[in-house]
This record gives sequence, structure tokens and C-alpha cells, in this order.
Amino acid sequence: MLVLGLETSCDETGVALYDSERGLLADALFSQIDLHRVYGGVVPELASRDHVKRMLPLIRQVLDEADRTMQDVGGIAYTAGPGLVGALLVGASCARAMAFALDIPAIGVHHMEGHLLAPMLEEQPPEFPFIALLVSGGHTQLVRVDGIGRYRLLGESIDDAAGEAFDKTAKMLGLRYPGGPEIARLAGQGVAGRFRLPRPMTDRPGLEFSFSGLKTSVLNHWNKTVAAGAADEQARADLAHAFQEAVVDTLVIKCRRALEQEGLQRLVIAGGVSANTALRQSLEHMLTELGGEVFYARPRFCTDNGAMIAYAGCRRLLAGQQQDLAIQARARWPMTELEAV
Ligand code: KG4
Ligand code: ZN
Repeated sequence: MLVLGLETSCDETGVALYDSERGLLADALFSQIDLHRVYGGVVPELASRDHVKRMLPLIRQVLDEADRTMQDVGGIAYTAGPGLVGALLVGASCARAMAFALDIPAIGVHHMEGHLLAPMLEEQPPEFPFIALLVSGGHTQLVRVDGIGRYRLLGESIDDAAGEAFDKTAKMLGLRYPGGPEIARLAGQGVAGRFRLPRPMTDRPGLEFSFSGLKTSVLNHWNKTVAAGAADEQARADLAHAFQEAVVDTLVIKCRRALEQEGLQRLVIAGGVSANTALRQSLEHMLTELGGEVFYARPRFCTDNGAMIAYAGCRRLLAGQQQDLAIQARARWPMTELEAV
């Protein structure tokens, strides 16, 4: 089955064609970063309008690249949530209209399930069961995964998501949006040991996260450094390094705890923050110690993309799941509500 996947939950228009027999045939992405950068974050109305402009040209592009036509498409998958409702509606209505016209099934995909399954597009996909660490701009969750749609939430952030903490901290340090990659770049030039930051909620049992205090701690250090007249490029890099190290340490500690609690040795990391090299390295190290393995997608499939939606939709469509003609778009949608495949 050839599935067209559409992703429009936030500030990236992602389109891909996935074939159940041959794998990923083509994928294309338009990132709106330049559009939102002047505002320091995503402006929902601008995001929706831009998705409208990009969607059809991107669909034509992937069809051309894969040497296919719309008549070859057997199903359409679109991101139905969670995300910005106006942005979601662009992909959802486009998918629904095309599916209706072509008389083929369409399915609304959960954005975080898309992220979670993205490592399945790689050469050595993980086998079930595994622990998934989902770290994106809106979510930080530890999930036990026993199969597609068989998710048990083990813990999540009680305030900011990891990606959000990266973005807000970057803003405080005067870095560009989106902050994750900027902090990662700057941290590479930083020296360890100058600033000491907390590892939130690691000194007590449980798998919950909290990143908002860490952000405040960075702000206090930065204000003191500014007041002391020492706020130069090196100080900024050192603080970025300390921040990244604190987030990574915290995530590693909680992942280890989740693996031990569930008696598992396979860890999947997914979502934008899983592109972070320091996080990948520390998790690799921890899993080697445990005799286990860590899985992640190639960097461009860690952040939002159409391929993960096409893949997740394909798996569900093949299992006979599809929805009626209603256009689905949900700002909030717990992943644990999903039907098992
Ligand atoms: O999954 P994603 O593309 O969108 C959401 O579903 O939210 O994640 C975006 C988040 C942003 O907060 C961004 O700053 C962060 O992922 N991010 C990173 C890196 N690349 C993207 N954070 C840390 N290090 C990175 N290399
Ligand atoms: Zn995402």
C-alpha cells in the first residue's frame, strides 16, 4: 500500500510517500523557521497560512520524486493532533478532501506516535517491547511500548518539556529561535565545571520530570554574571554547556530508572531533542553499561517530518483502521487513548 503522509502540527510542512513493500519513496519538508524567527517563537496564524501555501507544491514534489501519481496512492495519513489547531486543520482538510475525491481511506495520526515510530524507518529498527523517551518541544514522556498503540505512560514533565526548556533558556541567553540546536552548538564551545546546575527530581524516586526550575537557575547565574561584568561569549558558552549537561544527566538518570523498573534493555529516543548529540552519546554510554541498545531516527526524522506520519498511518491503515469523513484536529490528545494495532 502506498501512503501519502502530511504533517502540519506546528511550524513545518512535511510530506512523504511510504510504500509498505518498498519503504520510504520520497519525503519533502518546508521549515517556517525564518518566518517565525523575528517573533522569537511560532505565531500560530502565520503557521496555518504558510501550510496552505506549501502543501500542494510539496505533494507534487514527492510524487515527482517517487515517479508516482495521485492515482497510485492507496491511503492518506495526516497529523490529527496534538498541535496548533489551525495548522492541523490545513493538513487534515487537505487529506480528507483528497481521500474523498479518490475514494481511498484516510487516517488521523497522533503526532507523538509518529515521532515514537520514526526509528522504525531506519535500517535496524527496534523490536518490541521497549522504553521510549519522547522529547520534543511540547512533550517529555517516558513510555513503555509493547506494540503499536500499546503504550503505558510511566512518567512525564510536570511543567516545561525538554525542548521548551532548551528554547526558553536560549532566549534568555540571547540566542536565536529555535533554541535547541543553538544551545547545542554553543555548548560545544563551553567548558564544564564553571556553573553548577541542579538535576531536577533525580534525588527522589519516580519517573516525573521538571525543567522549569532549571531554566530559572540558568537565569540567576546569567544575571549574576552580567552584574559582575563577566557576561562574554565564553561565559555564555559555559552556561549553555552546563544547561545541556544538566538536562542530559536528568534524562539519562530517568531512562535508566525506567529500564530497570520495567526490566527492559531497549531504549528508543524520539522527538526534536533526540537529535541532540550529547544526549545520544550519554544514552549510548549508559545502555552499553546495561548491556542494552539505544535506537533513534536520523536527525531530520527526529524533528517534525512527513515520513513518520506516512509510516504510522500506513501501519494503522494496513491493520484495517480508518475513520469516517470527519476532519479531526485535536490540540490535546493523550497517546494512551490510541487503539492497539
Ligand atoms: O519534535 P519537534 O520537531 O517538534 C515538536 O513536536 O515539538 O521538536 C522541536 C524541539 C524544539 O524545542 C527544539 O529546540 C528541539 O526540539 N531541538 C533540539 C535539537 N534540535 C531540535 N534540542 C536540543 N538539541 C538539538 N540538537
Ligand atoms: Zn514534533
